[in-house]
Amino acid sequence: MSPLVARRDDLVSLEGYHSPQVPAEVRLNTNESPLPPPAGWAEAFGAEVARIAPNRYPDRGADDLRRALAELHGVSPSEVFCANGSNEVIQCLLLAFGGPDRLVATFEPTYALHSFIARLTATPIASAPRDARFGVDVDAAKALFEERRPAVTFLCSPNNPTANADPPELVERILSMAPGLVVVDEAYGQFAQASAAALLGRAGAEGLVVVRTFSKTWAMAAARLGYLLADREIVEAAQAVALPYHLSAYTQAAGLCALRFRPEMEARVALVAEQRGRLAAALAGLDVEQWPSDANFILFRPRARSAKEVWQGLLERSVLIRDVSGRDELAGCLRVTVGTAAENDRFLAALEACLR
Ligand SMILES: Cc1ncc(COP(=O)(O)O)c(C=O)c1O
Repeated sequence: MSPLVARRDDLVSLEGYHSPQVPAEVRLNTNESPLPPPAGWAEAFGAEVARIAPNRYPDRGADDLRRALAELHGVSPSEVFCANGSNEVIQCLLLAFGGPDRLVATFEPTYALHSFIARLTATPIASAPRDARFGVDVDAAKALFEERRPAVTFLCSPNNPTANADPPELVERILSMAPGLVVVDEAYGQFAQASAAALLGRAGAEGLVVVRTFSKTWAMAAARLGYLLADREIVEAAQAVALPYHLSAYTQAAGLCALRFRPEMEARVALVAEQRGRLAAALAGLDVEQWPSDANFILFRPRARSAKEVWQGLLERSVLIRDVSGRDELAGCLRVTVGTAAENDRFLAALEACLR
């Protein structure tokens, strides 16, 4: 290959992020909201879009949106940073706090993008395994912190793909031991009982960063909007590495409009939680092992069939779920997003047929 097109040495083997986007009637593979935002949101958003001057750059500081989010969480706007999805939030964090001479710590298995983005930002990764129930192993974490001194530690609560949330005591323990930032990815936070955001501002929590997204509970995956809550110095560091005008006026307007529909969002969360209970009860009657879920998805393992076989069988019935069996700790496992009642029925009928 011509030296002109030689990639960065450390990224030569990088394949890019893969989550198959194949056509299917029932799509339960990416943990999106099964319902669109409320009709009132579309109306409000349309009106806001009409007010945007397309020839002008957007508000660089996303001030209105940050103010609204600050109000939602009871913090100051200077403690909020917004970006194009929580993935970009995490990228900005690692651009600011990672780099070749620093380490990122993860507890595996967890959301693959934490280590993927670490690689993109040339930040080496140190990982510790989770315990048998996929909780963070405090002793393993302590050893990792003492030996490797990571600059950034990722928690993920509820954890993707295992669906368990970290109890607040665990987050406090990790905060007390970790030498650098502790980033709690709460993409599915509204489905869990507790949020690490309650710890913000407390003594000892100066390095805490809570990351949230509009992609799941706010039913706005298409808009690409995420944010973090943290001490103002951390926010300033993230702002410093974000590209100028990175958050479009349309994205900002979408988020601002969504925040006017909080009761509707909460109703969606309640509906998904109810369907999650139904799905878990139905799975309990099938030949699969499943793990308790605090999120809008369930991890399960067919006992008598391979994950690949079941994934393919479901796809043949036009039901798409996520095959996570490629990782050693998740051998044989699949992950299904909780859908509408009708989608869940289709999934369950198809799964029963595949297991037969
Ligand atoms: C744990 C976790 N964090 C972040 C994200 C990315 O969300 P966003 O759409 O906000 O980039 C996901 C998406 O699946 C996720 O599972």
